Amino acid sequence: MIPDPLLDALHRARHVVVFSGAGVSAESGIPTFRDSLTGLWERFDAASLATPEAFRADPALVWGWYEWRRMKVLQAQPNPAHMAIAELARHVPHLTLVTQNVDDLHERAGSTDVIHLHGSLHQPRCFNCGKSPDTSRTMPDEPEGGRRLEPPRCAACSGQLRPGVVWFGESLPTEALNTAFAAAQSCDLLISVGTSGMVYPAAEVPGLAWHAGAVVVHVNPQPQTDRSEREFALAGPAGEQLPLLIRQVFGQATPG
Ligand code: OAD
Repeated sequence: MIPDPLLDALHRARHVVVFSGAGVSAESGIPTFRDSLTGLWERFDAASLATPEAFRADPALVWGWYEWRRMKVLQAQPNPAHMAIAELARHVPHLTLVTQNVDDLHERAGSTDVIHLHGSLHQPRCFNCGKSPDTSRTMPDEPEGGRRLEPPRCAACSGQLRPGVVWFGESLPTEALNTAFAAAQSCDLLISVGTSGMVYPAAEVPGLAWHAGAVVVHVNPQPQTDRSEREFALAGPAGEQLPLLIRQVFGQATPG
């Protein structure tokens, strides 16, 4: 049951921010961060692989792990939650999509101008000179994942390529972060979907919106219990809750 004040707020909203995390891709079969990893990689602690120090110490281990994740994404398809967000953009005057995810499932569902706060698995850059290669030549469509893999070399300086994601201890891309914060502070309604809200500064986004007066809704099968005024929770998988919300406010799905 979706509360009427939330339906009304979405109906009236001029600017909606969607803030997504790993949970939005869970129904596409992409493991979230705080799930245990399976198979070959379960012995590795994700947080200890996602650092510049880990790459320096063992580039093949880290590159292989990210290629395994990229392979998972290439094999996955956008789910009804990604589709619902792309559809929502066609119903509201202005929508800003901010994601912490490094996959491209929002784009493949039809969302445009996605703000990737934590970078992308699909845009590596040189660990040495920072240049981004022509990915169509460097990155195979079917990466050999699941094992140690030597990173490709940079065409400009022969340095090793690194995944284009933000690692622990690194800054978020300034422009992306500024745009996300500005959108949060000027929106009428923010939908936070599939995130544990534990990794800062990205996790500040919903709070910024709320403090600026926006209605905030959390979509998560495990909702927090303490909520303030203007704050709602839709308890359940995003692939069910988001299509339901959009259907209730805007009626039947519009063709993409
Ligand atoms: P987490 O793995 O921390 O949290 C995923 C959230 O999704 C949890 O709150 C789950 O309850 C929820 N969830 C699971 N299945 C869901 C579903 N079907 N529908 C909706 N929600 C669902 O992932 P993030 O919050 O994205 O950072 O993690 C934030 C950051 O931590 C990541 O971007 C990454 C990681 O370290 C970097 O790589 C820098």
